[in-house]
Amino acid sequence: MSASAYPSKTFFVSMLTRDIELKDAILDLLDNCVDGILRHQRIHPPKNKQKPYESFWAKITITDKIFSIEDNCGGIPKSIAEESAFRLGRADLRQDKDIPTVGMYGIGMKRAIFKMGTKARVTSRHKPYSYYVDILPSWLSNDEDWELPLTDTQDGLESDGTRIVVNELHENISRQFVGKNFEKELREDIGRFFAVILMKGFTVFLNGTEVSLSDFRLLFHKDFDLPNQIQPYVYKAKIKDVSIEMVVGFYRELASTNEIEKEEEEEKDKPTRKSENAGWTVICNDRVVLYRDKSRLTGWGIRDVPKYHTQFIAVAGVVKFSSTNSLSLPLGTTKRNIDTNSDVYEKALDRMMDGLKQFTNFTNKWKGNEEGTADNFKKMELAEPSDIVKSVKKWSKVRGSQEDEQKFVPDLPEPPRTTTKKRIAFYKPSSEIETLSEYFFGDPEVAPSEVGERSFDEALSKARKSK
Ligand SMILES: Nc1ncnc2c1ncn2[C@@H]1O[C@H](COP(=O)(O)OP(=O)(O)OP(=O)(O)O)[C@@H](O)[C@H]1O
Ligand SMILES: [Mg+2]
Repeated sequence: MSASAYPSKTFFVSMLTRDIELKDAILDLLDNCVDGILRHQRIHPPKNKQKPYESFWAKITITDKIFSIEDNCGGIPKSIAEESAFRLGRADLRQDKDIPTVGMYGIGMKRAIFKMGTKARVTSRHKPYSYYVDILPSWLSNDEDWELPLTDTQDGLESDGTRIVVNELHENISRQFVGKNFEKELREDIGRFFAVILMKGFTVFLNGTEVSLSDFRLLFHKDFDLPNQIQPYVYKAKIKDVSIEMVVGFYRELASTNEIEKEEEEEKDKPTRKSENAGWTVICNDRVVLYRDKSRLTGWGIRDVPKYHTQFIAVAGVVKFSSTNSLSLPLGTTKRNIDTNSDVYEKALDRMMDGLKQFTNFTNKWKGNEEGTADNFKKMELAEPSDIVKSVKKWSKVRGSQEDEQKFVPDLPEPPRTTTKKRIAFYKPSSEIETLSEYFFGDPEVAPSEVGERSFDEALSKARKSK
């Protein structure tokens, strides 16, 4: 006698698909395309180092009836299809250990298919084989049968690649696909989260139209050693098997008080229009994981770093983690969140906060006097973060670190000392400060000096308007 410990497919399918959003599930399929290119290039190295993914594409189609994605990214070798590609979960987590893929768990493709529908065909060509695998509703409801037959086919693809068609969509998916904004939002997400990969030449078409990419460039001054000049804060490190590159600074000139006020008014009905470009972008193996984040995850509002506020609209940063061991990256399971418990992330976060503080301080110091920085900004130009890292000549070691960590801290210009400024200081009951803090910042524990300053600014702005 024995007890049956067979898994139930219905259980797997509903568990797997519950925690992932539809858009993220689709992005997982694009990750597979990129991993496919990397595996292909292990054997056929790219000629164009600047644009190594040139000539590779993925075409996504969404309608109320089907979802399909087709790529020319090398295909799934027949032996991999037979042994592991269709398994729920990887048996060998060290697969691809010498190339920087983002695939880790052996779940993405299946999760995306099950999320969208009950009937799918995966066709792949990887010379000399061309085959398809069908996933049918009858297979999904049968817990005894865990095999999926491979059928050879000639009716395949024109080059080595993969096509996944899901043709019995769940009703809620079909509804979302034709919903008002889905296609637009998916296009935006692809342009953001695959920006680095698109910049390297990969092309994605969504319903026949090419997806355009987001811009993460930051301002810098060519002569890095020049003192008293606005420059980004730069950091590079190698921690265990992960390399880190980080740049934080400005991507535009400081916002004037007028602009900030206008922006705040607009934000009431349409959140974060201009603020959209501010914040941190976190990249793991070329895949954008956090896009222009302004939360505690990236250091805003922690310890002595202020919370994000429209005043910091010009501040942005990019941090890149790369490793041939994707398990060492600070990636969450959906690949669109970070694992904040990761040691590597913790180290980087210290530098991110250090850098951020330079620019929030700078912005505060020049408040009301923004035009005084205009000449400095005129001398700067936009550049890709990795080119900025290459331009730094003098690095200094991160003090106290046992790891290989180096940074460049800019010598930012100070505003002229004005005698027209006066200091205000007064005492108020803690509970009242907390009430105002909650009112202004949605958090009762913001520093009293910040609460005081904000109260003053609000009152002043009211006074000016009433003139
Ligand atoms: N478009 C594709 N091109 C080439 N190979 C692919 C493609 N899609 C899937 N594969 C193969 O199928 C395997 C399983 O894909 P799946 O997305 O389920 O898991 P994974 O990518 O290994 O890990 P993760 O769950 O982290 O995404 C991949 O490891 C890869 O070998
Ligand atoms: Mg995958």
